[in-house]
Amino acid sequence: MRDAPGNFNLLHRTCSLVVLLCFLHISVTVIYYMRNSDLRQTFVQNQQSPQIHRKLAEQRVTTEESPQRLPSVSNVTETERKLETCPDNPPRLVGPLRVEFSDPVTLDLVRSENQALQPGGRFKPTECIAQQKVAIIIPFRHRDEHLKYWLYYLHPILQRQQLDYGIYVINQDGEDTFNRAKLLNIGYAEALKEYDYDCFVFSDVDLIPMDDRNFYKCYNQPRHLSVSMDKFGFRLPYAQYFGGVSSLSKEQYLKINGFPNNYWGWGGEDDDIFNRVSSKGMSISRPDGVIGRCRMIRHDRDKQNDPNPQRFDRIAHTRETMASDGISSLTYNVVNIEKDQLFTKITVDVGKP
Ligand code: BGC
Repeated sequence: MRDAPGNFNLLHRTCSLVVLLCFLHISVTVIYYMRNSDLRQTFVQNQQSPQIHRKLAEQRVTTEESPQRLPSVSNVTETERKLETCPDNPPRLVGPLRVEFSDPVTLDLVRSENQALQPGGRFKPTECIAQQKVAIIIPFRHRDEHLKYWLYYLHPILQRQQLDYGIYVINQDGEDTFNRAKLLNIGYAEALKEYDYDCFVFSDVDLIPMDDRNFYKCYNQPRHLSVSMDKFGFRLPYAQYFGGVSSLSKEQYLKINGFPNNYWGWGGEDDDIFNRVSSKGMSISRPDGVIGRCRMIRHDRDKQNDPNPQRFDRIAHTRETMASDGISSLTYNVVNIEKDQLFTKITVDVGKP
């Protein structure tokens, strides 16, 4: 015979085992029920009317990032799959960005991080129809180190901004005096030979925006984007400043006959463009000083780009010269066109002063 405490222990262990078994049984039942209820719901959705079925398919087209991963829906026509125009506030923007130039960056790294690009640095969102077709024009000579950073930072930003864009690096051939504004005119003309762009962003190669809400697109008025540069203590150096990064629609650009072709060397051409814009009754649109912050990559002054001593005189006469000097009088020779995954580089002979 067992004594009383022995019996109590046996009873206690048996009860614990029974409670454990009950708990296990209930858990298995609940899990099984929930899985079946999911299946039931999917079944009910698939049995809904064709209209609802189509609507669900359309929602998937407009919200999913990669159309390649869409399930095939045989009864959805092309028109029904039509994409919506991209929103004013693209959903993947992140706001302020960390921008610095100490990390080593290679073109191969940038290529591997931007595999959605088409040759020539072209991109189009797949989830919606871009609001604008934007050609980004970069005047260039011997600045490969800066171009790497520009591409590294800008491609992801432009893609988050859901733009239909292409990058055009306009490389001045030879070692004669640099002509920034003429290179910009050439970029405009060459980009239009390739695609029906309606907006043109003109950017120096060493300027990187610090906030992706600074849209690289066009507005009702010509836009100045680099309004708050670190080089100038994050403020405008003067109210009429229009240098660095700016954008003009095709219509605005043609209204001012493009840019001057005869500013050789550093300075003045951006002031001339400002004069052209205001002489045609347009004003300058700008982002606020926080969104418009940007960093400039520090560098020594380029060779063959000394300050242009004639700039003050030229700026004083923009109104008289702009009708005869501009896109209407542009002449140049294309020396080479290189299509990289990240950009189209067009080497051009711009002539001499
Ligand atoms: C020049 C501009 C230049 C600005 C800021 C002006 O004096 O004419 O071309 O962008 O200074 O450096």
